[in-house]
Amino acid sequence: QKKVILDVDTGIDDALGIVLAVRSRQLDILGITTVSGNVSLAKATENTCKILELLDAAERIPVIRGADRPLFRPAVFEHRVHGEDGLGGALSAMQLEKTAADGFAPDFMIASAVRFPGEVTLVMTGPLTNLAHAVRKDPGLVHRVKEVIFMGGAVQSFGNVTPTAEYNMYVDPEAAKIVMHAGFRSLTLVGLDVTRRALLTEEHIGQLAGSPLGDYVRQSTADYMKRYYERYGVRACAMHDPLAVGVAINRDLVTTGYYYVDVETRSDLCDGQTVCDFQNRLHKQPNVHVCLEVDTGAFFRLFIRALRSI
Ligand code: BDR
Ligand code: CA
Repeated sequence: QKKVILDVDTGIDDALGIVLAVRSRQLDILGITTVSGNVSLAKATENTCKILELLDAAERIPVIRGADRPLFRPAVFEHRVHGEDGLGGALSAMQLEKTAADGFAPDFMIASAVRFPGEVTLVMTGPLTNLAHAVRKDPGLVHRVKEVIFMGGAVQSFGNVTPTAEYNMYVDPEAAKIVMHAGFRSLTLVGLDVTRRALLTEEHIGQLAGSPLGDYVRQSTADYMKRYYERYGVRACAMHDPLAVGVAINRDLVTTGYYYVDVETRSDLCDGQTVCDFQNRLHKQPNVHVCLEVDTGAFFRLFIRALRSI
C-alpha cells in the first residue's frame, strides 16, 4: 500500500476524495491535514472529522490542522459552491465526537517524510499553503517525499474563479509557486483540463443507491449539481478532488506530459493562472507532470466500486 497524506479544505469534492481514498483500501493513509480554502480551517477540520466518522475510520486516521489563511492574501471561501457548511448540508445533524490531533500540518508532513523517507505521497486537494510552509521550514523535505499530486490549475482550459485561474491556485498563488519550484522529485498537476471531464451524473448516483454511502453522495451533491447545471448546462458535477486521489491509486487513469509550469502572482487579471510552457519557449527544465488525458470510464469504475464496498 502506498503511504499517503491527504491535504484537504473539505469541501464537497474533497469529502468524496477522502471517501475514495479510505474505501479503495489501496492507500495507507498516514493522516489527513486540513487547510483554509473552500471553508475556514475550523470548518474544513470539522468536515474532515465528520467524513471519517461516517466511514468508521475516525479512530485509525488522525486529522491534523494546518494553515488558517493563505501565505500573504486574505482567505476566499467558496460557500456559493459548497454550501454554508461545506458539505452541501449533508451531515449537518451529525453529532461529532472526533477532534483533531495535536500538531500543525506542515510539521506532520515533515515528520512523516523523515519517518518514511522516499515513501510518502502527498495528495493535495486544497490551496497549497501547508506544503509551502513545510518546504520553507524544511527545504530537505523535497528529497524525502516520494511525490506530490495536486488538484489545481488549468493549462489548456479556462479557469473556474477568474477567466484564467482555477480556485486552489487562485486562493494562494504564492504557495503554489513555492511548491512548483521547490525541487520535488515528482509533482503531478491534476487540473481542470481533466477534472472537468470526470463528471458525476445521476446515473452514477443511481449505481450507489442502496449502498451505505448512496444517500450521503446524493444529498451532498444535490446543490452542487444544480449550480453546475446553471453554469455549464450539464446535469452533473465535477469530481475534481476525487480524480487527484484516483491518480494516487492508479496512475494509469491519466496521461501526462512533462513540462515547465509556473503560476502568475503579479497580475490583476491573471493571478493564479497556471502557465504551461508546452513549446519550451522559456528554455527551462520541466518541473511538473501535467495531466492531459483521463480515462473517465476507468475512474468511475474505481470510484463506484470503492463507494459500494462495505
Ligand atoms: C477545486 O476548488 C475547490 O472548490 C474544490 O474542492 C477543488 O479542490 C476545484 O477548482
Ligand atoms: Ca478542494
